[in-house]
Amino acid sequence: MPNAYISGTGFYVPDEVVTNEDLAIRYGIDTTDEWIQKRTGIEARRFAPEGVGAADLAVPAVEMAVECAGLSKTDIGLIVLATLSPEHCFPGSGVYLQTKLGLTDDDVGHFVGCLDVRDQCSGFLYGLATAASMVQTGSIDNIVVVGTEVHSAALDLSTRGRSVATLFGDGAGAVIVSATNEDRGVRSWHLGADGRYADALSQKVWDTRKRPFIPRNEEGVGQVTPDDMWAHMEGRLVFKHAVERMIGALMKEFQKQSLTLDDVDLFFFHQANLRINQYVAKQLGLPEEKVFHNIERYGNTTAATIPIMLAEAEREGRLQRGMKIAAVAFGSGFTWGAAIIDW
Ligand code: ACO
Repeated sequence: MPNAYISGTGFYVPDEVVTNEDLAIRYGIDTTDEWIQKRTGIEARRFAPEGVGAADLAVPAVEMAVECAGLSKTDIGLIVLATLSPEHCFPGSGVYLQTKLGLTDDDVGHFVGCLDVRDQCSGFLYGLATAASMVQTGSIDNIVVVGTEVHSAALDLSTRGRSVATLFGDGAGAVIVSATNEDRGVRSWHLGADGRYADALSQKVWDTRKRPFIPRNEEGVGQVTPDDMWAHMEGRLVFKHAVERMIGALMKEFQKQSLTLDDVDLFFFHQANLRINQYVAKQLGLPEEKVFHNIERYGNTTAATIPIMLAEAEREGRLQRGMKIAAVAFGSGFTWGAAIIDW
């Protein structure tokens, strides 16, 4: 059976840079650069323009990854797309991405399957574990795994929403998971979840337990209250669980692989809060130079975070063939995941 390795990486972030100061001045949010930086490490994020959706951001990221892998788009055998900000309730964003990539042309005759993943900040690692397992069966050679988010459309960019709205940004990252007979690739992965905390980090724009699923006014027009419209986050609870679960998931993988922390060259932690990651790194005794971060420039880009980091680290020359890396994420669900990869 083949190994599954990452043959190419790519990323795309929209042009518009929104600094912490912009949130205060342009959006009128009662916040300061100092408050945000001190608690989260975020200095700026990117916002996509109106009219641009998750699949649009994913296109250049996937094209970059395909080129980096030395493949052509028609070599892709499956699209795995992770997002919490799809264009619509249904269908998922995967099919929009497939069309935008031109993989439905009659000439190409290549109608690849599209799998949408709903695991928020852990979505990329859930997608990677799925793709690697499929490639390792030998039945498929190249799968694109993409994380893409347009958070800016659904953030309450007012003082009321400041504890969530200041944290998130838009972007997309992609990898190609390919079959190889070489002795490298995704060595192991761990996925976990604790649904008891599903409501602690959630956005409940609609509820299919209700009749109708969105309340209507007298004219029959759907109306969503601010509480349901915007994301709800119990920040301190999330922080506490993130630290415990990220350390736990990593240690499980290290035990499984009989590795020590010294065996790993570079760590990729989900970028929700620089302070969470600094705490985790300190607890594990990791030197700063082994922990990649980009939260200062992009904020939390949820499912896109880890693939954006991989793509940037590779282009900066920090991530090189032959290295052993560890990736770990935690997010809404609660869900978490970790992976050990021989690059
Ligand atoms: N600017 C200024 N003041 C603010 C801001 C802001 N942006 N946000 C909140 N405040 C205020 C609050 O209103 C509150 O004021 P009050 O005391 O007068 O009521 C005060 O600051 C403290 O608010 P807290 O929310 O308690 O602040 P905390 O110290 O917990 O920090 C933070 C908030 C940074 C969000 C932190 O809790 C955190 O990082 N949590 C984890 C986030 C995370 O990991 N998310 C997971 C991934 S997301 C996903 O999966 C989709």
